[in-house]
Amino acid sequence: MTKSANSMWGGRFAAGPDAIMEAINASIGFDQRMAAQDIAGSRAHAAMLAATGIISDTDAAAIEEGLLTVLSEIETGKFPFSTALEDIHMNVEARLRDLIGEPAGRLHTARSRNDQVAVDFRLWVREQCDAVDDALARLLQALLAQAEAGADWVMPGFTHLQVAQPVTWGHHMLAYVEMIGRDRARFADARKRMNLSPLGAAALAGTSFPIDREMTAKALGFDGPMANSLDAVADRDFALEFLSSASICAMHLSRLAEELVIWSSAQFRFVKMSDKWSTGSSIMPQKRNPDAAELIRAKIGRIFGANVALMTVMKGLPLTYSKDMQEDKEQVFDAADNFMLALAAMTGMVSDMTANVESLEAAAATGFSTATDLADWLVRELGMPFREAHHVTGSLVAAAEAKNCDLPDLTLSDMQAVHQDIRQDVFDVLGVKNSVASRTSFGGTAPANVRAQVAAWKDRLG
Ligand code: ARG
Repeated sequence: MTKSANSMWGGRFAAGPDAIMEAINASIGFDQRMAAQDIAGSRAHAAMLAATGIISDTDAAAIEEGLLTVLSEIETGKFPFSTALEDIHMNVEARLRDLIGEPAGRLHTARSRNDQVAVDFRLWVREQCDAVDDALARLLQALLAQAEAGADWVMPGFTHLQVAQPVTWGHHMLAYVEMIGRDRARFADARKRMNLSPLGAAALAGTSFPIDREMTAKALGFDGPMANSLDAVADRDFALEFLSSASICAMHLSRLAEELVIWSSAQFRFVKMSDKWSTGSSIMPQKRNPDAAELIRAKIGRIFGANVALMTVMKGLPLTYSKDMQEDKEQVFDAADNFMLALAAMTGMVSDMTANVESLEAAAATGFSTATDLADWLVRELGMPFREAHHVTGSLVAAAEAKNCDLPDLTLSDMQAVHQDIRQDVFDVLGVKNSVASRTSFGGTAPANVRAQVAAWKDRLG
């Protein structure tokens, strides 16, 4: 038996779609996540159609009431979603017709699914930006609490994952505060740019009906209508800005996650992750695995993957709408879900982890980490050019290596054997605490700087 044509657009069709056609074409399996946005868009559109005299107030009232019923059916899980009706837009409209009859057919006046889907998706992504903003604020608070607690805990700073110079725990945490702060600004910026309404662009060219786009934009919380109808239905850059901001942030999260994996290892013992964020092994009873950190480290894969996927879908598409663009939503939904999960897990891990202050300080003193302080002393106290001081310090490091000790363990005569003018007070700069305390240049690691930055961030976060 031949299937009958689609009731929404099948006027010119004698037969319905092949089953495989229906399967590849339908988006209802995933775009039902935009039901609330779709209904909000339709309510705003119907109210505007009535206000401009395009439909009657009676029809608009019936539509409004019917849409609210549809919404509650969806919210309570009673809505009969149908694949034959393709997507959320036609599912909602068909149900509205079941509920209120003829006036439902007037809702789609001066509108197309092209501007409808553009408005729904913008609303969804905009809400997601707000949720991300809240989640980032919580992560910032967790990082700041760690920074404040450990403003003067000394730890090794690394380059090439080799001990470089002593830094403070607080300073290291604040590095992530800066990164996450910029991520937050990127989302806020993207949100601002995306907050214009495509509704009223209709299929692509606008409409001959006297619509009021300002009115619908306002009703939906947009700053105004988008200025070009072709652009309004054709672009998905707002979704790409969301995905690229999420990718950059997920990249930051993966670096912090990687550090937590390294730091919680038996070799480092810099931090202890709480039981809440660790897992055991089914065979090795002693194990404590940082699974949450590892999964956060991995999430960048699918988030950046979504970014690449959507960028590739959009690349080379002629204006305006093409069905290719239906592939936008699953990427964004999946990336957003996993991103939110990663943010929440990172916030929990950071809040609950305990730094091992003794291990941090002991590690800070290894690897001749105060060699630069020594070179700086030679410059400051003996007036040596830095290049020469670097060379002399290299010889002192070699002397310590030969004695199998650290720089502060050399005797004054060991030092004077390398350079006769070195004095006893050189030992003051070789301790890690003195080293960090001396780095008071703006942006440097000194505890005093860390405290000032923590205070400034707390002010900013309110
Ligand atoms: N489900 C479609 C999408 O997600 C809605 C827009 C359909 N527009 C069209 N001209 N077929 O993109």
